[in-house]
Amino acid sequence: MCGIIGILGNAPAAPRLVEALKRLEYRGYDSAGVATLENGQIKRRRAAGKLANLERVLAEEPLAGITGIGHTRWATHGAPTTGNAHPHATDKVAIVHNGIIENFRALREELAKGGHKFASETDSEVIAHLITDYLDKGQSPEQAAISAVRRLDGAFGIAVLFAGHEDVLIGARKGSPLAVGIGDGEMFLGSDAIAVSPFTTRVMFLDEGDIAVLSRTSVKVLDASGKQAERKVHIFAGGAAAVEKGNHRHFMQKEIYEQPETTGRTITRYVNAFEERIEMPDFGGVDLNAESAVIIGCGTAHYAGRVAEYWLEQIAGLSVETDIASEFRYRKPAFGKNAFSVFVSQSGETADTLAALRYCKENGLKTLAVVNVPESTIWREADARLPTLAGPEIGVASTKAFTAQLSALAALTIAVGRARGAIDAKEESRLVRTLMETPRLIADALNAEPEIEKIALELSKARDVLYLGRGVHYPIALEGALKLKEISYIHAEGYAAGELKHGPIALIDEHTPVVVVAPHDALFEKTLSNMQEVNARGGKLVVITDARGAAEVADIAQHIILTPACDPFIAPLVYSIPIQLLAYFTAVHKGTDVDQPRNLAKSVTVE
Ligand code: G6P
Repeated sequence: MCGIIGILGNAPAAPRLVEALKRLEYRGYDSAGVATLENGQIKRRRAAGKLANLERVLAEEPLAGITGIGHTRWATHGAPTTGNAHPHATDKVAIVHNGIIENFRALREELAKGGHKFASETDSEVIAHLITDYLDKGQSPEQAAISAVRRLDGAFGIAVLFAGHEDVLIGARKGSPLAVGIGDGEMFLGSDAIAVSPFTTRVMFLDEGDIAVLSRTSVKVLDASGKQAERKVHIFAGGAAAVEKGNHRHFMQKEIYEQPETTGRTITRYVNAFEERIEMPDFGGVDLNAESAVIIGCGTAHYAGRVAEYWLEQIAGLSVETDIASEFRYRKPAFGKNAFSVFVSQSGETADTLAALRYCKENGLKTLAVVNVPESTIWREADARLPTLAGPEIGVASTKAFTAQLSALAALTIAVGRARGAIDAKEESRLVRTLMETPRLIADALNAEPEIEKIALELSKARDVLYLGRGVHYPIALEGALKLKEISYIHAEGYAAGELKHGPIALIDEHTPVVVVAPHDALFEKTLSNMQEVNARGGKLVVITDARGAAEVADIAQHIILTPACDPFIAPLVYSIPIQLLAYFTAVHKGTDVDQPRNLAKSVTVE
């Protein structure tokens, strides 16, 4: 994940770009760069490493332009070198990009055939060449940017500068955030409100799929369908921009919507996209080719571990046991030879998880922490760590931390599969490509919001709700029920779909909604039988499925939440989105305190 800034100003842009980039360094600091227009020509300065290096370059070779873009990079495709630093440019266009362009290889090949010469190993550079290609065909800057953005697959936020056009800056977002800062005769683009806060207090957040065409005195926003749209202007006085909800009503909603970005950031941390393989950090002596592993966590983190249990067994052939930290530490668990242990925690401070980690260390197990907060206690005490890069999670009910945990655990699964010889290079590259599709599919899954909001109104009237799932979606059903309980205070239970007939079926009547997590995968037909059992007893089915599944449940489901078709490997990530939105809107309809539900705490540091 990277930080981007754009300025259409009335003063030299470079110092202001650097000032904004300082506020964006939290998004990455592998390299940085700026570009401005001088006499209509694009001039760039870039440097590997921290922003201070770019400042030194600029001190030696200043830039005078008043129109410019800047970037602080968190490397995904290509090493953090000066050559790979943004902005990427042709003689006509310079761009800065945050996110992943999934189809960059195909576009690069196509453009190279047309004579375009590439200077970096990044996915981002294709954007500059693609826009240039459309300009060469006679399109205006606006048309060329729109044509190019339409051809990009993946999740991205971009800012585009055009040679010879001093009063145009174009921004586009799909999956990655982008804000417009409105000044007096000046205009700004930034990854967040903090980036533009030194220059203005008036900020407009772009919606998914928006393209913003800026001049110094105007903002034209085109929505995903190409229609002109209005976006609300927020006023941030003082430091209010530091922790803001943007267009969202609650932090939880904002965090749900950040997931294309946060999963992308976490996945690319572990992926070499050019070689299509997983690259893990130093494992501190953890032997991935062990006979078994234990995965420990609490609450949502525990459910992420349960998903990983299915993955590690099915894909990597590793015998895995998962447990709740508070149970694990007191049950005197026995360990297989050479076992390693994995601790999943957003905060890195949960007392039970920490105690379980210490227990494993005392018993000679190597410990691996999947943690969101750097330098937290679990982070520091583990032998090795896999950071989840969700950023600060403010809503007490965990959402983006969960999918970031799944992202890191999915990468770990591939690494373990390779270490154990369970998957070959071809399968690894297939799995890596699949994993890279996650941010886009999550962005697609978010489109079901209007339908989910309607269904949630009915759910909000229920006293009990059942969640069913099979295989890897059983933990997603458990997480769905937990989310609903936490924030709407409605009693909910997650069950393995096949277990329904062994008890919970007694609860089914016309007042008990049954939410079924059921992608059309190898187990769909089995789950369909369970849905028939519910239907036969008058239960109301809310089925979360893809188009193929929807066709098969059309006559029995009361409601269908359509989710994009995806590879079964990443389905738990994609199906997390509807269950989060369903809980969120149910709580909103009930009027509960979504971000700070009663009795709960974000980080539980007591037993
Ligand atoms: C608390 C939070 C949950 C979280 C759990 C584990 O109960 O309310 O949202 O899943 O702790 O927290 P951790 O920080 O270890 O992931």
